[in-house]
Amino acid sequence: MKSKMYSTFASEYDEVIQDNIYNAYLERPTLQAMLPTVVGREVVDLGCGSGVYAQYLLAEGASKVTCIDYSEDMVKLVSDKAEKAGVTDKVVAYAQDLSKGLPNEADASADLVISPLMVHYLEDLNPLFSDVHRVLRAGGSFVFSTHHPFADFECTISGNYFGRELITEQWNTVGKPVEVSFYRRSLTEITNALTQNGLVITQISEGEVAEEVKEMDADRYEYLSKNPNFIFIKCQKLA
Ligand SMILES: C[S@@+](CC[C@H](N)C(=O)[O-])C[C@H]1O[C@@H](n2cnc3c(N)ncnc32)[C@H](O)[C@@H]1O
Repeated sequence: MKSKMYSTFASEYDEVIQDNIYNAYLERPTLQAMLPTVVGREVVDLGCGSGVYAQYLLAEGASKVTCIDYSEDMVKLVSDKAEKAGVTDKVVAYAQDLSKGLPNEADASADLVISPLMVHYLEDLNPLFSDVHRVLRAGGSFVFSTHHPFADFECTISGNYFGRELITEQWNTVGKPVEVSFYRRSLTEITNALTQNGLVITQISEGEVAEEVKEMDADRYEYLSKNPNFIFIKCQKLA
C-alpha cells in the first residue's frame, strides 16, 4: 500500500525515525535483541525504508545486506548512504512490490530475512512468506515486526477481530498529517501464514519501551509500558 509518507516525505521520515520514541526506543531495540548473530551473514531487509537497519546490520558484521522497498525514494536514500559510507560492495538496494514476493532472490541465498514494520501494508501475506521460506537457507531465521493485532483492533470499522480490514488514518510522524493505509488482521491470520508456508515460530515478543522514554515523555512511557503497540515474531526454516 503506497503512502506519501514513504515517497514524498521519505527524507523527513528518515530524519524523524533516527531518534523518535516508536522506532528508536521501542521497535528497533526490541527487534534487534531478537536477531541471531549476523557476523559474516547475508541478510535481506524487506521494506527497508531509508536503511537504518542496513547500517545496523553492517556495523554488526553482516557480509551483505539486500535492501528491498516499494518506494524508489527510500531505495535512493539507502544507495546514497551506502555510497557515502563506502560500502556499496556490501549493499544491494532495489525497488520491488513485496506483495508479489521475491522474484529476484535466488533459492537458499540468505541466512537471515528481516522485515521491520512492513507486512501490515500487504493484503495477502502468503506470496511473501512463501518466498521468504524459499530464499532462506536451512536453519536461517525470519524476524519481523508489525502492528499488534490488539492495538489495531481499536481502529476496527467492522467490529470483527477475525476479519481483515483496510484502515486509513492520518499520521503525524513527520510533523504534519499524512494519510497512511494498512491492513488490520488477527494474530491467527499472521501465525497461519507463517506456519502454512513452512516457517516455524521460535519467539514472540510484544516489545519493551526503553527506560530513556521516561525522561523524554512520561505520559507516552506510561502508555507504552501498559499497552501493546507492536508484535515481533521470529521464525526459522528448519530444512
Ligand atoms: C514503516 S516503514 C519501515 C521502514 C524500515 N523497515 C524501518 O524500520 O525503518 C515501511 C516501509 O515499507 C515499505 N512498503 C510498504 N508497502 C510495501 C510493499 N508492498 N512492497 C515493498 N515495500 C513496501 C514502505 O515504502 C516503507 O519504506
